[in-house]
Amino acid sequence: MKLILLGPPGAGKGTQAQRLVNRHNIPQLSTGDMLRAAVAAETEVGKQAKAIMDAGHLVPDEVVNAIVADRIAEDDCTEGFILDGYPRTLKQADALEALLERRGQHLDHVIELKVDDDVLVTRVSGRFSCANCGTVYHDVDRLPKVEGTCDNCGSTEFKRRPDDNAETMRSRLRTYYKETSPLVGYYHCKGTLRSIDGMAAMDEVTESIEEIVKG
Ligand code: AP5
Repeated sequence: MKLILLGPPGAGKGTQAQRLVNRHNIPQLSTGDMLRAAVAAETEVGKQAKAIMDAGHLVPDEVVNAIVADRIAEDDCTEGFILDGYPRTLKQADALEALLERRGQHLDHVIELKVDDDVLVTRVSGRFSCANCGTVYHDVDRLPKVEGTCDNCGSTEFKRRPDDNAETMRSRLRTYYKETSPLVGYYHCKGTLRSIDGMAAMDEVTESIEEIVKG
């Protein structure tokens, strides 16, 4: 199964991708996570990406396309993958289509999570994640079951993203509507798009996705 989770920052792409990984045993390919790892490792890509990400803009298409092409070529992607945060521009969508065509593959589903802007801001400003395994939490809606301990791996270290502040979030939303939202029309025309209510409770969103995936 090869699918894209599409939606604005804070829509729940990462949260739902983690659940799909557990249910379907295919990897989550998050370009945001890959870029943050490059920033932390101070690679050339990371050095180039840091200021762009901190400002809420998009890293150049060529850079991201190359990262994704390398990742999809790895063995664990043979049976499928969940793209979280990619593609984000029409050029990236064309590059992905060409890449999959070369590999004799095609996308099964593109699932758009629809969420109102004011809810997105609340979600992002309350987000934190496990510093060890990346499980995503929220100050109000999704706290660890045992305070201060990750449900998934037991770590007691948590972190917050530098771009999860009100000013950068405004910029990320502008970027989404200008650069990424045209992909809704792009995939609608191809007949692969399904849109769901991303404002529903997390479990309900998961069930809506499962219904689409099961056909
Ligand atoms: P990236 O890391 O991809 O961030 P994003 O797209 O802005 O998405 P987020 O991770 O913020 O949100 P999400 O939808 O995953 O929500 P989550 O599940 O965490 O990108 C970061 C940056 O990297 C970009 O700005 C750009 O600079 C660069 N970049 C990345 N990809 C790129 C690309 N392809 N091209 C160019 N540049 C690229 O949920 C958010 C919060 O809400 C959590 O706390 C969660 O617990 C809570 N929540 C989730 N679902 C629900 C629900 N149903 N109800 C209540 N709360 C919920």
